[in-house]
Amino acid sequence: MNVYLIGFMGSGKSTLGRRMASREGWKFEDLDSLIEKAEGKPVMQIFRESGEEYFRKIEAATLKSIKEEGNIVIACGGGTPCYKDNMEYMNGEGVTVYIKHNAATLFSRLTRAKKIRPLLEGMSTEEMKEYIKQKLGEREKWYGKAQLIIDGLKADPGKIMDIILLRPPYIR
Ligand code: S3P
Repeated sequence: MNVYLIGFMGSGKSTLGRRMASREGWKFEDLDSLIEKAEGKPVMQIFRESGEEYFRKIEAATLKSIKEEGNIVIACGGGTPCYKDNMEYMNGEGVTVYIKHNAATLFSRLTRAKKIRPLLEGMSTEEMKEYIKQKLGEREKWYGKAQLIIDGLKADPGKIMDIILLRPPYIR
């Protein structure tokens, strides 16, 4: 089974995903890391050299190249569900889980984050605050298509896995 974690930048998908996978002895994949491995350079450099549209194409191709070999938890990038048919693909292929935070929480998490994010590069604090609010608003319509929506502040890796594993059969 493939479990896809989605949500805005800074929502904690990778940390949570790694813990969810290790609890069950599953494999964990981080989509950004897979892209970096395939392209041989950091996401930041891909954005700088080839632009966002190129990154989105590679991101979609990488997402679809992950085969269902055993059980995997996949942490997606914040923009993964919002490109072309990626969200429909993930919903058809496995279980999608949205780690939901409000804009204020994301802002404070992102100002403390060590990871460098091309979409936030060079922004002032005020610009970043505004950007997060606007972008989250736009993206909610894709994030809202997830099969499970989890409050990011209460997200517990074990409980999320229990919900996924014990879910009724009409939820994929
Ligand atoms: C992006 C989020 C990043 C990365 C890229 C674009 C986005 O991943 O894929 O910088 O569009 O929100 P994280 O959500 O892991 O930061």
